[in-house]
Amino acid sequence: MTVLNQIVLTVALIVIAGEVPAENNNRDALVIAHRGASGYLPEHTLAAKVMAYAQGSDFIEQDLVMTKDDELVVLHDRYLDTVTNVAAVYPHRSRGDGRYYVVDFTLGEIQRLSVSERFEIENGVVKAVFDKRFPLGKSSFRVHTFAAEIELVQGLNQSTGKSVGIYPEMKSPAYHHIEGKDIASATLKVLQQYGYTDKTHQVFLQCFEAKELRRIHDKLMPKMRMDLRLVQLMEPSDEYAWMLGQKGMRKVATYADGIGPSIDSLLSTDSVPPDIKATPLINDAHAAGLVVHPYTFRRERDQMPPFSTDYADFLRLFIDEFGVDGVFTDFPDLTVQFLESNE
Ligand code: G3P
Ligand code: CA
Repeated sequence: MTVLNQIVLTVALIVIAGEVPAENNNRDALVIAHRGASGYLPEHTLAAKVMAYAQGSDFIEQDLVMTKDDELVVLHDRYLDTVTNVAAVYPHRSRGDGRYYVVDFTLGEIQRLSVSERFEIENGVVKAVFDKRFPLGKSSFRVHTFAAEIELVQGLNQSTGKSVGIYPEMKSPAYHHIEGKDIASATLKVLQQYGYTDKTHQVFLQCFEAKELRRIHDKLMPKMRMDLRLVQLMEPSDEYAWMLGQKGMRKVATYADGIGPSIDSLLSTDSVPPDIKATPLINDAHAAGLVVHPYTFRRERDQMPPFSTDYADFLRLFIDEFGVDGVFTDFPDLTVQFLESNE
Protein backbone atom coordinates (compact mmCIF):
# COMPACT_ATOMS: atom_id res chain seq x y z
CA MET A 1 0.00 0.00 0.00
CA THR A 2 1.35 3.45 -0.92
CA VAL A 3 1.64 6.18 1.71
CA LEU A 4 -1.20 8.08 0.01
CA ASN A 5 -3.46 5.01 0.08
CA GLN A 6 -2.61 4.52 3.73
CA ILE A 7 -3.58 8.12 4.54
CA VAL A 8 -6.85 7.78 2.59
CA LEU A 9 -7.66 4.52 4.44
CA THR A 10 -6.90 6.06 7.84
CA VAL A 11 -9.10 9.09 7.14
CA ALA A 12 -11.91 6.82 5.87
CA LEU A 13 -11.76 4.68 9.02
CA ILE A 14 -11.89 7.78 11.24
CA VAL A 15 -14.95 9.03 9.39
CA ILE A 16 -16.66 5.62 9.65
CA ALA A 17 -15.82 5.17 13.36
CA GLY A 18 -17.38 8.55 14.04
CA GLU A 19 -15.96 11.52 15.86
CA VAL A 20 -17.48 12.36 19.19
CA PRO A 21 -19.17 15.78 18.98
CA ALA A 22 -22.74 14.74 18.13
CA GLU A 23 -22.77 12.30 21.03
CA ASN A 24 -25.92 12.29 23.15
CA ASN A 25 -28.12 14.11 20.62
CA ASN A 26 -28.05 16.86 23.26
CA ARG A 27 -30.24 14.78 25.52
CA ASP A 28 -29.72 14.69 29.32
CA ALA A 29 -28.23 11.18 29.25
CA LEU A 30 -26.85 8.64 26.80
CA VAL A 31 -29.17 5.85 25.71
CA ILE A 32 -27.13 2.63 25.66
CA ALA A 33 -29.05 -0.26 24.12
CA HIS A 34 -28.39 -3.17 26.49
CA ARG A 35 -27.79 -6.23 24.29
CA GLY A 36 -29.77 -4.30 21.61
CA ALA A 37 -33.48 -3.57 21.89
CA SER A 38 -33.60 -6.73 23.98
CA GLY A 39 -36.99 -5.89 25.45
CA TYR A 40 -38.45 -6.66 22.03
CA LEU A 41 -36.20 -9.17 20.22
CA PRO A 42 -33.81 -11.91 21.40
CA GLU A 43 -30.75 -10.31 23.01
CA HIS A 44 -27.63 -9.74 20.93
CA THR A 45 -29.23 -10.73 17.62
CA LEU A 46 -28.63 -8.47 14.65
CA ALA A 47 -32.38 -7.88 14.54
CA ALA A 48 -32.27 -6.53 18.11
CA LYS A 49 -29.37 -4.28 17.13
CA VAL A 50 -31.17 -2.88 14.07
CA MET A 51 -34.22 -2.15 16.20
CA ALA A 52 -32.07 -0.43 18.85
CA TYR A 53 -30.48 1.67 16.12
CA ALA A 54 -33.85 2.63 14.63
CA GLN A 55 -35.22 3.53 18.07
CA GLY A 56 -32.62 6.27 18.46
CA SER A 57 -29.98 4.72 20.73
CA ASP A 58 -26.74 6.66 21.17
CA PHE A 59 -24.69 3.49 21.75
CA ILE A 60 -25.33 -0.20 21.16
CA GLU A 61 -23.81 -2.79 23.51
CA GLN A 62 -21.91 -5.94 22.51
CA ASP A 63 -21.00 -8.57 25.14
CA LEU A 64 -18.06 -10.56 23.78
CA VAL A 65 -16.78 -14.11 24.23
CA MET A 66 -14.23 -16.13 22.22
CA THR A 67 -14.71 -19.28 20.19
CA LYS A 68 -12.38 -22.28 19.91
CA ASP A 69 -10.92 -20.78 16.71
CA ASP A 70 -10.32 -17.37 18.36
CA GLU A 71 -13.23 -15.46 16.86
CA LEU A 72 -15.06 -12.86 18.95
CA VAL A 73 -18.79 -13.53 19.03
CA VAL A 74 -21.54 -11.36 20.47
CA LEU A 75 -23.06 -13.36 23.33
CA HIS A 76 -23.64 -12.52 26.98
CA ASP A 77 -22.67 -15.86 28.50
CA ARG A 78 -19.58 -18.02 28.17
CA TYR A 79 -22.14 -20.80 27.64
CA LEU A 80 -24.33 -21.46 24.62
CA ASP A 81 -27.14 -23.24 26.44
CA THR A 82 -29.05 -20.19 27.73
CA VAL A 83 -29.98 -18.70 24.34
CA THR A 84 -29.42 -21.39 21.68
CA ASN A 85 -30.48 -24.93 20.75
CA VAL A 86 -26.92 -26.25 21.29
CA ALA A 87 -28.10 -29.18 23.46
CA ALA A 88 -30.27 -30.48 20.60
CA VAL A 89 -27.70 -29.92 17.82
CA TYR A 90 -24.55 -31.09 19.68
CA PRO A 91 -25.92 -33.31 22.48
CA HIS A 92 -22.52 -34.82 23.37
CA ARG A 93 -20.48 -31.64 23.56
CA SER A 94 -21.19 -30.45 27.12
CA ARG A 95 -18.53 -30.46 29.81
CA GLY A 96 -18.81 -32.37 33.10
CA ASP A 97 -20.96 -29.60 34.57
CA GLY A 98 -23.54 -30.08 31.82
CA ARG A 99 -22.77 -26.68 30.23
CA TYR A 100 -21.89 -26.06 26.58
CA TYR A 101 -18.95 -23.63 26.49
CA VAL A 102 -18.52 -21.20 23.59
CA VAL A 103 -14.77 -21.82 23.78
CA ASP A 104 -15.29 -25.50 22.88
CA PHE A 105 -16.96 -24.70 19.54
CA THR A 106 -15.70 -23.16 16.30
CA LEU A 107 -17.46 -20.17 14.79
CA GLY A 108 -18.77 -22.39 11.99
CA GLU A 109 -20.30 -24.79 14.50
CA ILE A 110 -21.85 -21.95 16.51
CA GLN A 111 -23.35 -20.37 13.42
CA ARG A 112 -25.35 -23.55 12.77
CA LEU A 113 -27.31 -22.92 15.98
CA SER A 114 -30.62 -21.09 16.33
CA VAL A 115 -30.81 -18.24 18.83
CA SER A 116 -33.91 -17.57 20.91
CA GLU A 117 -35.03 -15.48 23.83
CA ARG A 118 -33.10 -16.25 27.03
CA PHE A 119 -34.53 -19.31 28.77
CA GLU A 120 -34.14 -21.51 31.85
CA ILE A 121 -34.93 -25.17 32.28
CA GLU A 122 -36.83 -26.00 35.46
CA ASN A 123 -37.62 -29.66 36.13
CA GLY A 124 -37.17 -30.40 32.44
CA VAL A 125 -39.52 -27.57 31.41
CA VAL A 126 -38.15 -24.76 29.23
CA LYS A 127 -39.26 -21.32 30.48
CA ALA A 128 -38.52 -17.86 29.07
CA VAL A 129 -36.72 -15.62 31.57
CA PHE A 130 -38.96 -12.72 30.46
CA ASP A 131 -42.26 -14.36 29.60
CA LYS A 132 -43.91 -11.28 28.01
CA ARG A 133 -41.08 -10.69 25.56
CA PHE A 134 -40.42 -12.24 22.13
CA PRO A 135 -41.78 -15.80 22.07
CA LEU A 136 -39.35 -18.71 22.49
CA GLY A 137 -38.29 -20.63 19.40
CA LYS A 138 -40.00 -18.34 16.88
CA SER A 139 -38.54 -16.91 13.67
CA SER A 140 -34.87 -17.37 12.81
CA PHE A 141 -31.87 -15.79 14.55
CA ARG A 142 -28.15 -16.64 14.54
CA VAL A 143 -25.00 -15.82 16.47
CA HIS A 144 -22.76 -13.27 14.75
CA THR A 145 -19.22 -11.96 15.16
CA PHE A 146 -18.14 -8.66 16.69
CA ALA A 147 -16.86 -7.60 13.26
CA ALA A 148 -20.25 -8.30 11.65
CA GLU A 149 -21.97 -6.14 14.25
CA ILE A 150 -19.53 -3.27 13.81
CA GLU A 151 -20.11 -3.46 10.05
CA LEU A 152 -23.86 -3.25 10.69
CA VAL A 153 -23.57 -0.17 12.92
CA GLN A 154 -21.04 1.54 10.65
CA GLY A 155 -23.13 0.65 7.59
CA LEU A 156 -26.22 2.21 9.19
CA ASN A 157 -24.17 5.25 10.19
CA GLN A 158 -23.23 5.68 6.55
CA SER A 159 -26.74 5.13 5.17
CA THR A 160 -28.52 7.31 7.79
CA GLY A 161 -25.84 9.94 8.35
CA LYS A 162 -26.02 9.31 12.11
CA SER A 163 -23.10 8.59 14.41
CA VAL A 164 -24.24 5.80 16.70
CA GLY A 165 -21.51 4.30 18.86
CA ILE A 166 -20.59 0.84 20.07
CA TYR A 167 -20.13 -0.23 23.69
CA PRO A 168 -18.33 -3.62 23.79
CA GLU A 169 -17.84 -5.58 27.02
CA MET A 170 -15.09 -8.19 27.29
CA LYS A 171 -16.63 -11.03 29.27
CA SER A 172 -14.50 -12.77 31.90
CA PRO A 173 -10.92 -12.06 30.70
CA ALA A 174 -9.46 -14.17 33.56
CA TYR A 175 -11.50 -17.17 32.43
CA HIS A 176 -10.38 -16.61 28.84
CA HIS A 177 -6.73 -16.51 29.97
CA ILE A 178 -7.22 -19.90 31.67
CA GLU A 179 -8.57 -21.18 28.35
CA GLY A 180 -5.45 -19.82 26.61
CA LYS A 181 -7.21 -16.83 25.06
CA ASP A 182 -6.46 -13.12 25.30
CA ILE A 183 -9.85 -11.51 24.81
CA ALA A 184 -8.57 -7.98 25.50
CA SER A 185 -5.95 -8.11 22.72
CA ALA A 186 -8.43 -9.71 20.32
CA THR A 187 -11.02 -6.99 21.05
CA LEU A 188 -8.55 -4.14 20.62
CA LYS A 189 -7.36 -5.65 17.33
CA VAL A 190 -10.89 -5.66 15.88
CA LEU A 191 -11.58 -2.14 17.20
CA GLN A 192 -8.38 -0.85 15.61
CA GLN A 193 -9.16 -2.60 12.35
CA TYR A 194 -12.50 -0.74 12.21
CA GLY A 195 -11.03 2.66 13.06
CA TYR A 196 -11.81 2.93 16.77
CA THR A 197 -8.51 4.05 18.18
CA ASP A 198 -8.91 7.01 20.51
CA LYS A 199 -11.18 8.83 22.92
CA THR A 200 -12.73 10.97 20.19
CA HIS A 201 -14.27 7.87 18.60
CA GLN A 202 -17.76 6.62 19.36
CA VAL A 203 -16.81 3.72 21.60
CA PHE A 204 -16.63 2.85 25.28
CA LEU A 205 -14.81 -0.37 26.16
CA GLN A 206 -16.16 -1.95 29.35
CA CYS A 207 -15.20 -4.77 31.70
CA PHE A 208 -15.89 -5.97 35.25
CA GLU A 209 -12.24 -6.97 35.81
CA ALA A 210 -10.10 -4.05 37.03
CA LYS A 211 -6.88 -5.98 36.50
CA GLU A 212 -7.61 -6.39 32.80
CA LEU A 213 -8.70 -2.76 32.35
CA ARG A 214 -5.41 -1.66 33.94
CA ARG A 215 -3.51 -3.98 31.59
CA ILE A 216 -5.36 -2.47 28.63
CA HIS A 217 -4.68 1.06 29.83
CA ASP A 218 -1.06 0.62 30.88
CA LYS A 219 0.26 -1.94 28.38
CA LEU A 220 -1.94 -3.01 25.49
CA MET A 221 -3.25 0.35 24.28
CA PRO A 222 0.13 2.16 24.42
CA LYS A 223 1.70 -0.76 22.52
CA MET A 224 -1.02 -0.55 19.86
CA ARG A 225 -1.01 3.28 19.83
CA MET A 226 -4.62 3.33 21.00
CA ASP A 227 -6.30 5.42 23.70
CA LEU A 228 -9.95 4.46 24.07
CA ARG A 229 -12.45 5.44 26.76
CA LEU A 230 -12.62 2.63 29.32
CA VAL A 231 -15.50 1.88 31.68
CA GLN A 232 -15.13 -0.02 34.94
CA LEU A 233 -18.22 -2.12 35.58
CA MET A 234 -19.13 -2.62 39.23
CA GLU A 235 -21.37 -4.78 41.38
CA PRO A 236 -22.24 -4.31 45.03
CA SER A 237 -19.79 -6.97 46.27
CA ASP A 238 -16.53 -7.15 48.24
CA GLU A 239 -14.49 -7.36 45.04
CA TYR A 240 -15.39 -3.73 44.29
CA ALA A 241 -15.21 -2.31 47.84
CA TRP A 242 -11.81 -0.66 47.23
CA MET A 243 -13.35 1.44 44.44
CA LEU A 244 -15.86 3.14 46.75
CA GLY A 245 -15.43 6.61 48.24
CA GLN A 246 -13.57 9.56 46.77
CA LYS A 247 -10.21 7.84 47.14
CA GLY A 248 -11.43 4.69 45.41
CA MET A 249 -12.95 6.62 42.54
CA ARG A 250 -9.73 8.57 42.09
CA LYS A 251 -7.90 5.22 41.78
CA VAL A 252 -10.36 4.04 39.14
CA ALA A 253 -9.88 7.34 37.29
CA THR A 254 -6.18 6.54 36.84
CA TYR A 255 -7.15 3.96 34.20
CA ALA A 256 -10.84 4.47 33.35
CA ASP A 257 -13.08 7.24 32.05
CA GLY A 258 -16.32 6.02 33.55
CA ILE A 259 -18.06 3.51 35.78
CA GLY A 260 -20.94 1.17 35.05
CA PRO A 261 -22.52 0.42 38.44
CA SER A 262 -25.61 -1.69 39.03
CA ILE A 263 -28.76 0.27 39.82
CA ASP A 264 -28.83 -1.21 43.33
CA SER A 265 -25.48 0.29 44.21
CA LEU A 266 -26.84 3.79 43.57
CA LEU A 267 -29.87 3.48 45.87
CA SER A 268 -29.15 4.44 49.46
CA THR A 269 -30.51 2.11 52.13
CA ASP A 270 -31.38 5.29 54.09
CA SER A 271 -34.17 6.00 51.61
CA VAL A 272 -37.71 6.22 52.91
CA PRO A 273 -40.25 6.53 50.07
CA PRO A 274 -41.08 9.00 48.68
CA ASP A 275 -37.66 10.42 49.71
CA ILE A 276 -35.30 8.21 47.71
CA LYS A 277 -31.65 9.04 48.20
CA ALA A 278 -28.61 8.19 46.10
CA THR A 279 -25.47 6.65 47.53
CA PRO A 280 -22.37 8.91 47.30
CA LEU A 281 -21.06 6.87 44.35
CA ILE A 282 -22.33 9.22 41.62
CA ASN A 283 -20.92 12.36 43.25
CA ASP A 284 -17.64 10.61 44.05
CA ALA A 285 -17.33 9.41 40.46
CA HIS A 286 -18.13 12.85 39.03
CA ALA A 287 -15.63 14.49 41.40
CA ALA A 288 -12.98 12.12 40.01
CA GLY A 289 -13.95 13.05 36.43
CA LEU A 290 -15.70 9.75 35.70
CA VAL A 291 -18.99 9.40 33.84
CA VAL A 292 -21.66 7.14 35.36
CA HIS A 293 -23.61 4.67 33.18
CA PRO A 294 -25.69 2.35 35.40
CA TYR A 295 -27.34 -0.92 34.34
CA THR A 296 -30.01 -2.19 33.63
CA PHE A 297 -33.18 -0.17 33.02
CA ARG A 298 -36.13 -2.43 32.20
CA ARG A 299 -39.82 -1.64 32.14
CA GLU A 300 -41.10 -4.89 33.64
CA ARG A 301 -42.67 -4.25 37.05
CA ASP A 302 -40.40 -6.74 38.84
CA GLN A 303 -37.31 -5.16 37.26
CA MET A 304 -37.96 -1.68 38.66
CA PRO A 305 -37.55 -0.46 42.25
CA PRO A 306 -40.83 -1.01 44.10
CA PHE A 307 -41.31 2.72 44.70
CA SER A 308 -41.09 3.64 40.97
CA THR A 309 -44.63 4.20 39.74
CA ASP A 310 -43.70 3.41 36.13
CA TYR A 311 -40.71 3.29 33.77
CA ALA A 312 -40.65 7.07 33.24
CA ASP A 313 -40.65 7.59 37.03
CA PHE A 314 -37.76 5.10 37.30
CA LEU A 315 -35.77 7.08 34.69
CA ARG A 316 -36.71 10.42 36.26
CA LEU A 317 -35.14 9.39 39.58
CA PHE A 318 -31.82 8.28 38.09
CA ILE A 319 -31.49 10.85 35.29
CA ASP A 320 -33.19 13.99 36.61
CA GLU A 321 -32.58 13.59 40.34
CA PHE A 322 -29.43 11.51 40.67
CA GLY A 323 -27.78 12.93 37.52
CA VAL A 324 -26.37 9.82 35.87
CA ASP A 325 -24.75 10.39 32.46
CA GLY A 326 -26.22 7.43 30.59
CA VAL A 327 -28.33 4.32 31.09
CA PHE A 328 -28.07 0.75 29.86
CA THR A 329 -31.61 -0.12 28.82
CA ASP A 330 -33.51 -3.00 27.23
CA PHE A 331 -36.04 -0.40 26.01
CA PRO A 332 -34.26 2.30 24.00
CA ASP A 333 -37.52 3.64 22.53
CA LEU A 334 -39.13 4.37 25.91
CA THR A 335 -35.90 5.90 27.15
CA VAL A 336 -35.57 8.18 24.11
CA GLN A 337 -39.25 9.12 24.54
CA PHE A 338 -38.65 10.06 28.19
CA LEU A 339 -35.56 12.14 27.38
CA GLU A 340 -37.22 13.92 24.48
CA SER A 341 -40.29 14.77 26.55
CA ASN A 342 -37.86 16.22 29.11
CA GLU A 343 -36.32 18.66 26.64
O1 G3P B 1 -22.32 -4.07 30.75
C1 G3P B 1 -23.31 -3.42 31.48
C2 G3P B 1 -24.24 -4.47 31.88
O2 G3P B 1 -24.61 -5.10 30.67
C3 G3P B 1 -23.57 -5.43 32.79
O3 G3P B 1 -24.34 -6.49 33.01
O4 G3P B 1 -24.49 -8.89 32.91
O5 G3P B 1 -25.90 -7.51 31.40
O6 G3P B 1 -23.47 -7.75 30.98
P1 G3P B 1 -24.55 -7.71 32.01
CA1 CA C 1 -22.84 -6.14 29.38
